[in-house]
Amino acid sequence: MKRQACLILSALAALPAWAQTSATDEIAKYRQMLADGNPAELWEMRGEELWKKKAGPKQASLETCDMGQGPGVLKGAYASLPRFFKDTGKVMDAEQRLAYCRMTIQGLTQAEALANPFASPGKPSDIEAIMSYVAAESRGMPMTVSTAHPLEKQAYEVGKKLFFYRGGAHDFACATCHGTDGQRIRLQELPNILNKANAQAAYTTWPAYRVSQGEVRTMQHRLMDCFRQQRFPEPVYASDAVTALTMYLAKSAEGGKFDAPALKR
Ligand code: HEC
Repeated sequence: MKRQACLILSALAALPAWAQTSATDEIAKYRQMLADGNPAELWEMRGEELWKKKAGPKQASLETCDMGQGPGVLKGAYASLPRFFKDTGKVMDAEQRLAYCRMTIQGLTQAEALANPFASPGKPSDIEAIMSYVAAESRGMPMTVSTAHPLEKQAYEVGKKLFFYRGGAHDFACATCHGTDGQRIRLQELPNILNKANAQAAYTTWPAYRVSQGEVRTMQHRLMDCFRQQRFPEPVYASDAVTALTMYLAKSAEGGKFDAPALKR
């Protein structure tokens, strides 16, 4: 099975010249962006405005939202998520928690709170903006994710299972692409999540402004995209399965210095 996966990976590496060229263009664009600063700052600013603005049927801001460090405390909150929350009796990631706050504090319905998580052309996402702001408030903080609560431990174990679970048309697992040092597809290096330094670099840089998409994307989007690469069905946005996988990734990045929103291809 491993051999078959490697064959498919090397087939992906042998892409036509036009694909190589467009990847090179992207890299040139990326360098230019780096010189100009990270456009994610615009998302952070819009996110901060949305956070502080009265909205929803209850006309309340999100400033009393408890992301895990107490109501209204954002410093370091993202770098300690996912975590167990007493008020819901659940382990939640940042995006589930944001939806919860928008429902309980602002009075949005669940459908409203979960709507439009990923921007499309002409349709910006409030969630991507708010997540940029929330994540930025953890910049420079070390990843400290607890697995002390039995449900946190359980989420971690479920996430680990998902990471190694093979299936789909190619019999791929996350680990097929992210479980060996030095693998790449085209020009993209694939982080080995089983290698601590790689896991830290991968996790602590999301959300990220993606030059190729012109949007800030969150961890939920990254994982949705990787499930697609894996030829698996798209997971439900803000589902507990995605939170479990995020728990596994976040814990694997323990101790890494949080540095998002970053800038990515
Ligand atoms: C077919 C190969 C493939 C599979 C399977 C796959 N990924 Fe990925 N993954 C990629 C590629 C390609 C990238 C983007 C690398 C880049 O753009 O630099 C990526 C990026 C990532 C990143 C961000 C890394 C970074 O430094 O920004 C994470 C985290 C990640 N994948 C997790 C997962 C998880 C979890 C799974 C299982 C659900 C998974 N991947 C399955 C190919 C794959």
